[in-house]
Amino acid sequence: MIDIVRVSKEYRFGRESFFALANISVKIEDGEYVAILGPSGSGKSTLMHLIGGLDRPTDGDLIVDNENLSELNDGELAEFRNKKVGFIFQSFNLIPNTSLYDNVSLPLVYSKHKLPDEKEKIRGLIDSVGLSHKTRNKPSQLSGGEQQRVAIARSLINDPQIILADEPTGNLDSKNGTEVMRILENLNKKGKTVIIVTHDQELAKETDRIIKLRDGKII
Ligand SMILES: Nc1ncnc2c1ncn2[C@@H]1O[C@H](COP(=O)(O)OP(=O)(O)OP(=O)(O)O)[C@@H](O)[C@H]1O
Ligand SMILES: [Mg+2]
Repeated sequence: MIDIVRVSKEYRFGRESFFALANISVKIEDGEYVAILGPSGSGKSTLMHLIGGLDRPTDGDLIVDNENLSELNDGELAEFRNKKVGFIFQSFNLIPNTSLYDNVSLPLVYSKHKLPDEKEKIRGLIDSVGLSHKTRNKPSQLSGGEQQRVAIARSLINDPQIILADEPTGNLDSKNGTEVMRILENLNKKGKTVIIVTHDQELAKETDRIIKLRDGKII
């Protein structure tokens, strides 16, 4: 479970201060499919970064899978991210000039434990997003939809319980967007907690629950 307890994220500029998130509390159960919905600047990405341990709050606690993230040091937080969270971003964030295969296997470089059937696992994931015929292609040789499917495969390599997707269809046409949403929905059906960040109400409606953000607060 993800328990967000009175979390704030404050940015200071000299004497001014700005709350990207202001004292929010919300729980997300294991296996839920939720959307974080709100206009630009409402704090969606900030919240996603905090849940995934990419950033730390200035106040409050995030308890994810029984770990209080504020009690982890930077190394432990990196390990938490690597093992428990899969990230998918609007702009795919693949490594250029590197094959699809190597992009998917990248997170393994950072994990301490070697997987027994590493090659099979990588190939299986690439197959599951329908790209086995492009294993040796580089991101620049793939369409946007294909690149996002690579990013999804990469996010799954360490079998995370939680998938965080920040505007995953934002750079895709509707056909590819639908395909990506279908993959995310299937991951949820297999038991993963899937959280989609979006400003698109129609997209949010496809999930089971919508958490609405505005000006850093839940409404
Ligand atoms: N490093 C930072 N320093 C100062 N302010 C920041 C920083 N990062 C984000 N903010 C501010 O915090 C607010 C929330 O940003 P956030 O990226 O979470 O918005 P968002 O809801 O994801 O918006 P979008 O839909 O445009 O991606 C914004 O007003 C933004 O300008
Ligand atoms: Mg954002």
